[in-house]
Amino acid sequence: MPTPVTKAIFPVAGLGTRFLPATKSVPKEIMTLVDRPLIQYAIDEARAAGIEEFIFVTARGKSALEDYFDHSPELERALEDKGKAELLDALRDTYMESGQIAYIRQHKALGLGDAVRCARRLIGDEPFAVILPDDVIAAEEPCLKQMVEAHAETGGSLVAAMEVPTEKTSAYGILDVESEEGAAVKVRGMVEKPKAEDAPSNLAVIGRYILSPAVMDHLDNTDKGAGGEIQLTDAIAREIELGAPVHGFRFKGQRYDCGSKAGFLQATVAFGLDRPDLRDELRAFLTEIISVQTAAE
Ligand code: UTP
Repeated sequence: MPTPVTKAIFPVAGLGTRFLPATKSVPKEIMTLVDRPLIQYAIDEARAAGIEEFIFVTARGKSALEDYFDHSPELERALEDKGKAELLDALRDTYMESGQIAYIRQHKALGLGDAVRCARRLIGDEPFAVILPDDVIAAEEPCLKQMVEAHAETGGSLVAAMEVPTEKTSAYGILDVESEEGAAVKVRGMVEKPKAEDAPSNLAVIGRYILSPAVMDHLDNTDKGAGGEIQLTDAIAREIELGAPVHGFRFKGQRYDCGSKAGFLQATVAFGLDRPDLRDELRAFLTEIISVQTAAE
């Protein structure tokens, strides 16, 4: 039985250039989907999966993120005085206990692999999760929970995977599949951002990982790869070369790429339509605006 996964790394040190100028002063991970910042969705998913230690890899200009997890006694008192129990619950959901949370600085945005490597000393010799908060996954059973359960069977490293259209492979790490084992697929190779003609499949890695601690060692010996960045994919590929088990995991759920403008808008609409308090008004508005636009075309 593999060691249980209790630690998660949240790399949040990227520059977020696709959302400039907003990200000049607001970290991407604090941007709001309906009424909660992206990071809150990631934390809730991790908690549901049994994660107990939350490690944030941050950077200059991200202090709003650290403030977000602080307790806010004044706000709490004001809500208590007004008897706003529901809002108080929502506020308390954001709190993280001091011993549960750690912040590490990535001094230069050298890539996701480098960001993960920054958390090395806090991980030690245990498997660990990595969650990219800009990938938001709507699922009946939270994606990381599905993965923790699958990892108890597969051990080794497990990466969340989904089919993408062939013309989009150059935006993802792509799996070279050896065999299908139910929701898990055994992987014999991984390539970061291949052109469509070079892609070994159209099964793409998205922002949820459970990794063997050996991946940290490989990151120490990983040079810059695709895009001039230190790539997590390259370190996982090294694990495969050494014969260690690496699986892709076809999760159940809908993933939204909230690191892109189109993905963020789609998520906003989908999450809005999923909310009983907003659904009717939003649906009526969408129907109306689409019919007006269609008539104008
Ligand atoms: P992205 O590839 O989305 O990059 O990073 P980015 O910098 O956040 O955004 P763009 O492309 O400039 O718009 C994927 C995840 O990896 C983290 C990001 O914070 C995001 O959660 N990351 C990326 C780091 O923590 N450090 C890095 O050096 C690069």
